[in-house]
Amino acid sequence: MFSRLAVTLATIAGAGLLIFASLGRSADTATVQFTPQYLKDPANISLGREVWAKRCKFCHGRQAYPGKAPRLQPSRYTPQFVFDRVTNGFRGMPSWKHEFSEAERKAVVAYVMSKDFPN
Ligand code: HEC
Repeated sequence: MFSRLAVTLATIAGAGLLIFASLGRSADTATVQFTPQYLKDPANISLGREVWAKRCKFCHGRQAYPGKAPRLQPSRYTPQFVFDRVTNGFRGMPSWKHEFSEAERKAVVAYVMSKDFPN
């Protein structure tokens, strides 16, 4: 009787860990989806513009060239590529996952990929 309870509790705890692990994974680049609707939503683009102005412009803005960072060429990127760079960084490009939420990092991708970019 007792051991059956222990097994049940262990099973619940195990399931909880699995759920936790899969939630953690949802922040991974591979599982983040960019639908056309998401990318063209003006609310996302405008949040992305704020993120850009706050942090990215300093290195990637027109005034920053040449020098701090390469000029972005969105027509050559996929949204996943931009999200990966913003989330994980790469060499001189900092990682932003501790400063910006997933929603903010997705929004800056929408902005970079939008026709409003660069402003
Ligand atoms: C401290 C300066 C700095 C800041 C701030 C910065 N970046 Fe970068 N970024 C870089 C550098 C340097 C690279 C080039 C890394 C490399 O490929 O060696 C880069 C690369 C990139 C790339 C890949 C470009 C390519 O063609 O390979 C993207 C996309 C990008 N940054 C987006 C952003 C966004 C969006 C933000 C704001 C959240 C941002 N960066 C903030 C310095 C910066």
